[in-house]
Amino acid sequence: MDKRLELHYEKLSEIYNDLWETRPDYPDWMAEQIRERLRVASGQRIADIGVGTGLFLSRLLPYATPQTPVVSVDPSAALLELLPQDPRLHAVQATAEEVVAGDVLLPFDTFDSIVIKEAVHHFTDLEKTLSGLAARLAPGGRFLIVALPPQIDYPLFKAALDRFASEQPDPEQIAASLELGGLKTTISYKEFPLSVDRDKWLRLVSDRWMSVLSNFSDGDLAQGLKEIEQHYTLPRLEFNDRFVFILGERPAA
Ligand SMILES: C[S@@+](CC[C@H](N)C(=O)[O-])C[C@H]1O[C@@H](n2cnc3c(N)ncnc32)[C@H](O)[C@@H]1O
Repeated sequence: MDKRLELHYEKLSEIYNDLWETRPDYPDWMAEQIRERLRVASGQRIADIGVGTGLFLSRLLPYATPQTPVVSVDPSAALLELLPQDPRLHAVQATAEEVVAGDVLLPFDTFDSIVIKEAVHHFTDLEKTLSGLAARLAPGGRFLIVALPPQIDYPLFKAALDRFASEQPDPEQIAASLELGGLKTTISYKEFPLSVDRDKWLRLVSDRWMSVLSNFSDGDLAQGLKEIEQHYTLPRLEFNDRFVFILGERPAA
């Protein structure tokens, strides 16, 4: 992980779990989207790559045991520190690329479920990394990637939306990488409606809550905040958070 990104997540770790106070029902909703698609069952070997603080993963813990802990991989030490202390969780500080290269030891060679939520946009070589991770999926296993699509409806300034779109991988490209790893894929979309206090949203943007915002200089961000203020004048901002779910399945042996 490059230094800028490491610092971004280190700073964000201080407020990461508070980000969701604007959407209290969201973590349960998202955890259910993940659980359903992966068909998570007790005793499965599960890996969460780019786990962050474990906000969603902690809701999968009832399906884990100390013998089959959820393998929780992330390069950010600051975020990993916020993971729940639980014997059903096995934390590994590494990038997805290091896992694929075999530079880190995981407790299992293959997995029944692999989930990556909102982290694939950080992978340096998407095709190699995703097909390499897919190779670790056991027969009958499921691999779920949750991402924001390149076009989002967030009330951001135009330069941020454009940069986000240019950096976010295309869902078809993600699916093709999983297929290279021998998986059968399906793509689906689901929206979560949001209503956020305008001042709170402006604070989140000025705190650079999305990694794309960490690329803007202080001056460009101040200009962007002005643009948002002029464009969105109501006290509450209503928009949809739209997610794409790319599911890969390896046929049972
Ligand atoms: C937007 S956060 C998502 C965290 C968590 N999955 C969630 O949804 O709350 C992106 C995560 O990807 C991690 N990350 C960045 N580069 C990565 C890489 N090359 N391999 C794996 N994870 C990475 C970051 O440290 C961060 O925890």
